[in-house]
Amino acid sequence: MDLQLKDKIVLVTASSKGLGKATALEFAKEGATVLVSSRTEETLARTVEEIKQLTNNERVYAKTCDMSSVEDINALFAWIKTEFGGVDILVNNTGGPTAGGFKDLADEDWMTAFEKNLLSYVRTTRAVLPHMQENDFGRIINISSSSTKEVIDGLILSNTFRSGMVGLTKSLAREYAKHNILVNTIGPGRIATDRVAELDRLAASRQSISIEDVIKRSENLIPIGRYGQPEEFAKVVLFIASPANTYMTGQSLIIDGGMLKAL
Ligand SMILES: NC(=O)c1ccc[n+]([C@@H]2O[C@H](COP(=O)([O-])OP(=O)(O)OC[C@H]3O[C@@H](n4cnc5c(N)ncnc54)[C@H](OP(=O)(O)O)[C@@H]3O)[C@@H](O)[C@H]2O)c1
Repeated sequence: MDLQLKDKIVLVTASSKGLGKATALEFAKEGATVLVSSRTEETLARTVEEIKQLTNNERVYAKTCDMSSVEDINALFAWIKTEFGGVDILVNNTGGPTAGGFKDLADEDWMTAFEKNLLSYVRTTRAVLPHMQENDFGRIINISSSSTKEVIDGLILSNTFRSGMVGLTKSLAREYAKHNILVNTIGPGRIATDRVAELDRLAASRQSISIEDVIKRSENLIPIGRYGQPEEFAKVVLFIASPANTYMTGQSLIIDGGMLKAL
């Protein structure tokens, strides 16, 4: 299937590692112009070089941006406007919120997670919509978590703000469908990245068991029997975010190897 991405400009935020990087790589393989961003300049520069080498696509560009910072997001979009005019496809991603249960968190943690994990997506979306409306084309993917369907114990900030993301996605999808702007949420179950390794380390220390045992227990909950790989997640994102998807909008999908029992 031709995903029709060759003339598209794609922004993937929080993309120097993990799911964001894998998604940027898949877009670059399809010949899109790919813009990557995250907080750390050196990691980003390495990511750009790696993607270029693996794909022979030279149209990969980077700018640092902390998704918690409105100034950084404004600067990112000022750069995009000057250099590229706008983006056709936005993949919203950001770092995971602080782990913890209700008693572990103060107002400051809640405010930080709100700004990083929900308001950041509102801000980037606001920035891309005018160009998308002008072109009568746009695709927005909001990367979330399986916590949107089944809460994860010890991740109350994710459970709270990612559900907000699903509401945001549905409302945007309905408001902007007439402009051919399709908006969907895609959440990972357990995909092998640094974030999941960190959460496994925390679980091992909390339960006083080895990391290997934590992983074995998690894998036992996944019918496919293993963690996913970032590229398995990215390939799904690619289709839903591409012009080849012409009718799916407002949905919240989970890529989890069958892990969730929720309907
Ligand atoms: N992997 C999974 O199975 C899984 C499951 C559920 C939810 N998620 C969620 O999916 C998202 C991506 O996770 P991942 O597994 O790919 O994580 P990861 O491997 O740790 O990668 C995170 C990426 O985000 C960047 N980043 C972190 N904080 C940022 C910020 N404030 N602003 C901009 N960029 C930031 C990091 O680069 P810098 O550090 O250089 O900024 C890095 O490129 C997270 O929100 C995570 O909670 C993942």
